[in-house]
Amino acid sequence: MSRSNAEFTGVVDVRDRLTEAGYLVDASIETVVYLAERLGKPILVEGPAGVGKTELAKAVATARGADLVRLQCYEGLDEAKALYEWNYKKQLLRITHARGGETPGAEGGEAWDEVEDDLFGEDYLMERPLLRALRSTTDTVLLIDEVDKVDFEFEALLLEILSDFQVTIPELGTVTGTKHPFVVLTSNNSRELSEALKRRCLYLYLDYPTLERERDIVMSRVPEAPEALADQLVRIVRSLRQLELKKPPSISETLDWARTLLELGFDTIDEDVARGTMNVLLKYQQDVQKANQHLRISPRPEMN
Ligand SMILES: Nc1ncnc2c1ncn2[C@@H]1O[C@H](COP(=O)(O)OP(=O)(O)O)[C@@H](O)[C@H]1O
Ligand SMILES: [Mg+2]
Repeated sequence: MSRSNAEFTGVVDVRDRLTEAGYLVDASIETVVYLAERLGKPILVEGPAGVGKTELAKAVATARGADLVRLQCYEGLDEAKALYEWNYKKQLLRITHARGGETPGAEGGEAWDEVEDDLFGEDYLMERPLLRALRSTTDTVLLIDEVDKVDFEFEALLLEILSDFQVTIPELGTVTGTKHPFVVLTSNNSRELSEALKRRCLYLYLDYPTLERERDIVMSRVPEAPEALADQLVRIVRSLRQLELKKPPSISETLDWARTLLELGFDTIDEDVARGTMNVLLKYQQDVQKANQHLRISPRPEMN
């Protein structure tokens, strides 16, 4: 396997380049990303919704100047949608044509062997994300997003692919690329993944960020937000996360809230403002009610 000059040269390099790509890391993220590269192992990122799992893969691609190939998982996802599929319509047309088609006066046809060779050739192959990433000859980040949504059989197929980075297509033979993709799998933890899959990967648990990190994320993603507002906002969000909510606000919601407040022209948050915009942060009426009961906003928050 060839090495690329887009590779990260150390933990600090990971930090710098991901930050430049707009993704703020902490010590565990930068270490796992660097190790993944050195060891050539996939990263399995688990954690609640909206904490930056998908974004991490995108940022790694940007930071390395690599192509991002994304396989979005869902229940019922199968090989045909994830790996490859033959283009039946085109194959049928080819067969019809070989038989002389419906062209009046056309005679006889081609030798079947020749037709068959064509039918299972590159022109009739529909490449799906996994095959595209495997065959890639350039630097590629393969994002297998929300892998906990697929069923067990598909997980086994993934495992096979992730162990040797190649796949055998009966009609074409063994397919492999010249470069291993950098693989990131994400999971919202809706079910346990197999031990075997976990063993294959480096594990990264992404939780809600610390106050400081979330404030920095707000300021990097919503640069128009004044620091005092960012500061106040992340404190309130954090206090909401401590209530037992059905769906605690994630970083995505914090960012939406920051943009909403700016849009409405607020540069400080009082209880009325918070109540009036709570629907940006919380998506269940029972959560909104609970939050409104507990909301205490101190006029002068301090960062520590
Ligand atoms: N470390 C981070 N640095 C910058 N932005 C982040 C970070 N983590 C999350 N975000 C922001 O939060 C949003 C939600 O992240 P996302 O990756 O979609 O969450 P998940 O995949 O975990 O559900 C992203 O669009 C991004 O703007
Ligand atoms: Mg995601």
